[in-house]
Amino acid sequence: MIKSTLVAVTSLGGHLARCENDEMAWPSKEDKAQLHEFLEKQTDICIIGRKTYDLSSSAFEKYPCLILTKSVDGLVKVSEKDWKMNPEKTSLRTFLEDHNFQKVSILGGQEVYKYFLNEGFVDELRLTIEPIIFNKGLPLFSELNHDQSLQAIGHQTLNDEGAMLLRYKVL
Ligand SMILES: NC(=O)c1ccc[n+]([C@@H]2O[C@H](COP(=O)([O-])OP(=O)(O)OC[C@H]3O[C@@H](n4cnc5c(N)ncnc54)[C@H](OP(=O)(O)O)[C@@H]3O)[C@@H](O)[C@H]2O)c1
Repeated sequence: MIKSTLVAVTSLGGHLARCENDEMAWPSKEDKAQLHEFLEKQTDICIIGRKTYDLSSSAFEKYPCLILTKSVDGLVKVSEKDWKMNPEKTSLRTFLEDHNFQKVSILGGQEVYKYFLNEGFVDELRLTIEPIIFNKGLPLFSELNHDQSLQAIGHQTLNDEGAMLLRYKVL
């Protein structure tokens, strides 16, 4: 059975980035450590938007990635471990089942989070909130086509500054 987890880090104000090309220097080292542990131990494949992949592909070089883009007609294998997919042209579920990818981590960015929440594809949210407020930025969630109820299933303080890892089940 496929389990899909939306993984993100935000400011206290709910921004996932300062701007479209944010290279993400602000999340704490403790958040980065827990992210990589989660990707190593509890993820079969990462799903990631083409813009985020272009900005930070080196961060994901150890993990199989499915890069979403409208620039391909269906599914294209682009390396030993990475694929590009246009989910409007081919079935994501069939791809995951064919490769026995059961633990799926959705790593953003904003457009990708919106797509999967609107599609009802997310089972769990794994969200770090860093103790910082940006004067402006990209909201984690915007223009969803429905409200989303959640059930808290866990929380953890990651460091002395108070970065919080929150986990929610999508209802
Ligand atoms: N805080 C966090 O946890 C976190 C996580 C990830 C990213 N970010 C930040 O978020 C920002 C990027 O977010 P973004 O929304 O601008 O870009 P994005 O979601 O990373 O990528 C958007 C691109 O992905 C492709 N795409 C998205 N949905 C698609 C769909 N349903 N079907 C086909 N292709 C699809 C399109 O690529 P084409 O243009 O090639 O068609 C689109 O232009 C960056 O600043 C990044 O650092 C933050």
